[in-house]
Amino acid sequence: MIDLRSDTVTRPTAGMRAAIAAAEVGDEQMREDPSVNALQERAAVLLGQERALFLPTATMANQIALKLHSRPGDVLIAHEHSHILTYEFGGAAVHAGLLTVGLPGAAGRLTAAQVTRAAASAQGVVDQQPSVLVVENTHNIAGGRVWPLDELDAVVGAAHAGGLGVHMDGARLLNAAVALRVPAADIGSRVDTVTLCLSKGLGCPLGAILAGPTDLIAAAWRQKFLFGGAMRQAGIIAAAALYALDHHVARLAVDHERARRLAEAWHAAGLPVELDRVETNFVQLDTSRLDLSQSETIAALREVGVLLSPTLGETHIRAVTHLDLDDADIDRAIDLASEALGEHVHA
Ligand SMILES: Cc1ncc(COP(=O)(O)O)c(C=O)c1O
Repeated sequence: MIDLRSDTVTRPTAGMRAAIAAAEVGDEQMREDPSVNALQERAAVLLGQERALFLPTATMANQIALKLHSRPGDVLIAHEHSHILTYEFGGAAVHAGLLTVGLPGAAGRLTAAQVTRAAASAQGVVDQQPSVLVVENTHNIAGGRVWPLDELDAVVGAAHAGGLGVHMDGARLLNAAVALRVPAADIGSRVDTVTLCLSKGLGCPLGAILAGPTDLIAAAWRQKFLFGGAMRQAGIIAAAALYALDHHVARLAVDHERARRLAEAWHAAGLPVELDRVETNFVQLDTSRLDLSQSETIAALREVGVLLSPTLGETHIRAVTHLDLDDADIDRAIDLASEALGEHVHA
């Protein structure tokens, strides 16, 4: 099987497993794990923030961030298709007690005018305080789309002018940095707090970072305990992350090149790929242009040995390139999918 469902399917490489085996560890809850401490210091610099906190998952990092920026009853503003509104099981309401305003926007992005309007209208309703804006970069459901820095600045400026804190769900922030050819800190320093996931393109078995100003990350440490995320010899995972930061960041460009090659070849074979949407390691196929449903398309591909996954409602599926694939896998996925789906395309 050629597994293109997600960049989360990667397994630790031999080099990463060796780093895990050699990890120096201590009790993380007592702040004595040298590998966790080293990772946190390095991640803060990487993301252009004062401090960073190691957490088990990016979902936990996002959920803690919401609590840092708000009080129960406040309003969260985000793109309607953001991970935080669609895949985190209502966590914004459950953990932070937030009302949510989901806004539409091309490529998973919002405009400054939208943010200004949403902040004002939320404030107009009794004492509901819009307190946090979440931007997602790269944007998962939109197809791994990247925020241009000027658009990001405009939206952050509008949020700050409206009194909102800005959290970036940068689960794939390093893909954005590689695509824009800028240091990750140029992106991470533009927002108040930022999540980075270690178990996607970076290839770690688990783990995430929440970075931000010293006072907020001190508050986040307490939340980490409350969420049950304070660990013990977590250095075995932090060592994997340190290894990934050394060996798996620059190579994200290879994932992006492979996604582009896959997209261009499928497009040339007549499959419904919107090429201008391919900016990082995601390729989306529009199944409304096939005479198969979304699930039938996924089943037909599985039959020939290619795994894709659903995204964006019932009309799109996605292929995601990652560390566990090579050029030969991409060549085979090009041929197998073109053959399996070619006869099902309609105008
Ligand atoms: C944009 C985005 N944010 C957050 C997450 C959550 O990551 P985790 O599985 O580490 O909780 C994901 C996972 O797919 C994601 O795509």
